[in-house]
Amino acid sequence: MNILDIIEKKRDKKELTKEEIQYFVNGYVKEEIADYQMSALVMAIYLNGMTKKEITDLTIEMANSGEILDLSRLGKIIVDKHSTGGVGDKVSICLLPLVASLGVPVAKMSGRGLGFTGGTVDKMQSIPGYKTDIDINSFVENVENIGISMISQTMNLAPADKKLYALRDSISCVESIPLIASSIMSKKIASGAEKIVLDVTVGNGAFMKNIDDAKKLANEMIEIGKLANRETVCVLTNMDEPLGYAVGNNLEVIEAISFLKGIMPEDLKQVVLELGSYMIKLSGICADLEENKRKILENINNGKAFNKFVEMVKNQNGDISYLENIEKFEKAKYIEPIIAQNDGYIHEINAEEVGKVACNLGAGRVKKEDSIDYTVGIVFNKKVADKVKNGDILGYIHANDLERLKIAKEKMKDIIVIENSVKEQTKTIFGICK
Ligand code: URA
Repeated sequence: MNILDIIEKKRDKKELTKEEIQYFVNGYVKEEIADYQMSALVMAIYLNGMTKKEITDLTIEMANSGEILDLSRLGKIIVDKHSTGGVGDKVSICLLPLVASLGVPVAKMSGRGLGFTGGTVDKMQSIPGYKTDIDINSFVENVENIGISMISQTMNLAPADKKLYALRDSISCVESIPLIASSIMSKKIASGAEKIVLDVTVGNGAFMKNIDDAKKLANEMIEIGKLANRETVCVLTNMDEPLGYAVGNNLEVIEAISFLKGIMPEDLKQVVLELGSYMIKLSGICADLEENKRKILENINNGKAFNKFVEMVKNQNGDISYLENIEKFEKAKYIEPIIAQNDGYIHEINAEEVGKVACNLGAGRVKKEDSIDYTVGIVFNKKVADKVKNGDILGYIHANDLERLKIAKEKMKDIIVIENSVKEQTKTIFGICK
């Protein structure tokens, strides 16, 4: 077998066999296949798609490219959560300590920023000292001892996805149903999840731009879950405007801390409640979704969710004084207001463009080896449908570079659309697939 024949076959829209998929996954992990050859193959998959059988074979091979974690010693049902990506998506940081505080064990392997979307690992690393790259034994021990651990993708869990994820990001091959489905499900299978709740985002700030594509992606992942004996529930959520108010690494952590202390933007609250209620249900603790939502709100109000977050950060070496006093987080050099240019109602805050602006300010990577700036981004004061007046402050741009700040300010004029007519509030939850 050789990689050129495999690239040619996919380029010519033919179905790859299980052996061919095994060959390129293993060859890439062992560095026997070069990045440029893998790039050609990934682009061919992106353009020509994959059959259901190919997607399942790819997922299983990627999961088997490293260790498959066995969490049975915890003696509880392990329910994992993942998002297909978004702008301002700090859901994991709010949700996971919350469900852990209700007895759902959380063993979460998160990703870095991808394309114009942010990544939970980058956000968590903006807490000084917090270690995301712990070994697998410490990861399992943490879950055993305090019920929660959030880490980055270690080299031993789905290493094929780790390499492919970074490669796809650097060659504009992210928005592909076969590649996203196999990426997410291989990680979830490798990290020992028995049940999986997925946030499938839809809109301009998501990789799936419309509900039909989001449903296709959801159904693909549900089917892989069935074949791998992992019950999977997908919640379709709106990503046309950024989730919550903050976009950027430490800015989002600050918003998540406030959320856990009870200051909850409505859209973020709805997503957390919906995903959380399913996580608790699948864990076998309580099947009543409304009761689960009530319990989640109770643990925000009584401080148990915030305390669990503090416990997790402390356990992974993070400086918890930042959580107690958010003023300690480093701030960007320039914090400039975004001013409304006219009276009216906000019709649009284009999430994809906001994500790109945040990336350009330094919050994300352009090349896979780029370092990121934890302090930059945008914090809005308003949401779509809000009424505003000419001269109102719509939010603040946080920047460390005057040239980049100038570009961001210019872009914001087109990103936030204000019109005279009243704008209806948009839905946050579009539906459930299971
Ligand atoms: N999240 C992932 O883990 N993989 C993708 O491909 C997209 C979002």
